[in-house]
This record gives sequence, C-alpha cells and structure tokens, in this order.
Amino acid sequence: MKPPGKRGLAAPGRVHNAAPAGAFVESILTVKAMQSWSRAQQHAGKRIAFVPTMGALHEGHLSLVRLAKTKADLVVVSIFVNPTQFDRPEDLERYPVSLEADCALLLKEGVDAVYIPDRAGMYPDGFATFVNVVGPLSESLCAMARPGHFRGVTTVVAKLFNAVKPDVAVFGQKDLQQALIVSRMISDLDFDIELVVGPTLREVDGLAMSSRNRRLSPEQRRSALALPRGLEKANRLFQDGERNSVALTTAVSEEILLEPETEVDYADVIKLTGFQETDFADDGSVLAVAAFFGGVRLIDHIHLGGKPLPVELND
Ligand code: PAJ
Repeated sequence: MKPPGKRGLAAPGRVHNAAPAGAFVESILTVKAMQSWSRAQQHAGKRIAFVPTMGALHEGHLSLVRLAKTKADLVVVSIFVNPTQFDRPEDLERYPVSLEADCALLLKEGVDAVYIPDRAGMYPDGFATFVNVVGPLSESLCAMARPGHFRGVTTVVAKLFNAVKPDVAVFGQKDLQQALIVSRMISDLDFDIELVVGPTLREVDGLAMSSRNRRLSPEQRRSALALPRGLEKANRLFQDGERNSVALTTAVSEEILLEPETEVDYADVIKLTGFQETDFADDGSVLAVAAFFGGVRLIDHIHLGGKPLPVELND
C-alpha cells in the first residue's frame, strides 16, 4: 500500500492505482516486476500467500484473501482473465471486468500487491508451451464438458506461480476439480508451494457466489437457485438411503429443467478417491453439476451425506 505521493516512484511495470477513497493499492503489471518484488520480499524473510483470480471479485474471493492472510506475512492477488481456459469465445467476451472496484476491495482487505499482467505479456507471439494434467482428474465433469479448459488453467497457474513465487497458494473448493488438478500439478512439477483450499461461500439463499452470477437477469438469478436446491434434494435422497447415481443425478437435473431456459451440461456422481464416475454413491462421493441458465453456465457440487446447503425446499 503506498500513499498517492509515491506514484512517481513506481518501478517500471509497477503502478499505484487509485481506489475511490483516495488510497492506493500496489499494482504490478509485468512478470519481471512481479518476480523482483517477490524476490525482495523473500530476501527480507517474508512468506507470500497467493490468491489467483480472474477479477469481478465477490465475497468468495475475499474469503480466500482472508484465509491467505492467516497463512503468510504477505498476500498477493492476481487478476487476469485467462483466454486459454475459455472454450467458448462468447464466454470470454462476456466475462465481467471491474478492475477499479476489484482494486478498491483488495485495498480494503489490506492485500500487499495485486498482479495484473496483460494478455500480450502472458501470451506473447510465439508462445508454445502448455501444462496438461492427464489421467482420471481430466476425464470427467468440466474436463469433458469444456475441452482444453484445464490445460488453460494449469498453464496460466504455472505461469502465475513462476511470477509470484508464492510459499502458499489459496484456491476455492467451489471449483473442486480445478483445485484437485492444481494440487496434482504442484506435486508432479515439484512446485515448492503449499496448497490451501477454502470453503465455498454462498449467497444467503444458497446460490454459490460466482463472478458469472453478475450476468444473470433477475429471472435467471431466481432460476439458478434450482442448482443448490436440486443438489440438496439429491442429498436428502442420499440420506434417506438412495445410492443409485442415476436416481440422484435425475433428482437434480429435474429440479433445474423445471425452470425456463435451462440446460444441464452434466450431473455426475464422482468418488473422491480416484476421482471417477460411479454407479453407486457412498459417503466419499460428490454430486457435481454444471448447468446453463440462459447463456450463463454455473457449476456447483455437494458432498453426499455432508453438510446441507442453506436452501428453501419447495416440497
Ligand atoms: P475465479 O473464477 O476468479 O476464481 C478464483 C478463485 O476463487 C478460485 O480458486 C475459485 O475456486 C475461488 N472461488 C470462486 N467462487 C468462490 C466461492 N463462492 N467461494 C469460495 N471460493 C470461490 O478460478 C479461477 O478464477 C481461474 O480458473 C484461475 C484459477 C484464476 C486461473 O485463471
């Protein structure tokens, strides 16, 4: 955090951008500037916790920032809408951007630096290297529904790790498959980084917070509640003894399809050990769903037999 007077002293690739209160959060714009900032902090004996994001920040992101603060001396947040992880160009084009508001929120949270690389810096002409996690984690759910998505995620996360050089990285359980794939990558590529996974934050009515929620019309926002409601209905069936995956996934799909302009991308029961689809659910299973509400794709999941979701059931 720097006062306005320090603006002129910013090193190349670093700016101190204004937030509404007139205060400033340190923004770092290039990989070189990010690396030298982190190197200097680590030479001074500071541990860095890192929260990668695509911006359009909400309380879910901020909960990860707060968790990060408990894990290290300094917190860095990145904001980069990563084109390589979007399988649908229209989704990338419509991804919400609110950089100024994001910086104001991060300033309020007391983060130490925000890394905001640009696309040309991240993917210069001639860029040709990708990180791809293969195997069971990449053979179900979003990996199948969004070809190339996780390759884009792991590639950008590896690049962000090399820029920020964190001791700790904080991800959200909301994107369970992403967190598991990143964990696999950290281990397989020997990144010296501790992975911390924070719980999913929900709106009071049960909808999981997501940057994409901003794109929902009021009507779609109401329909989207069918997602946590359907998951909770399936969870109750599970608690009443239902173990058949088709019965559980049908319960959630039916709930969603009762709403107008909805489409279920997938609804699957996955065993956490081995991360494979299963015909019969048990206590170590997760029911994961992706669905479209209008053009907006949302994902959510529930640990079967676990904590109930805070939704109102209509029967
Ligand atoms: P983004 O969707 O911005 O999410 C950034 C982080 O916030 C992720 O770790 C995600 O799981 C977490 N998050 C999102 N919604 C949450 C919620 N309701 N509660 C708790 N945590 C939540 O995920 C990405 O960006 C990108 O794929 C990224 C990792 C930055 C790579 O581009």
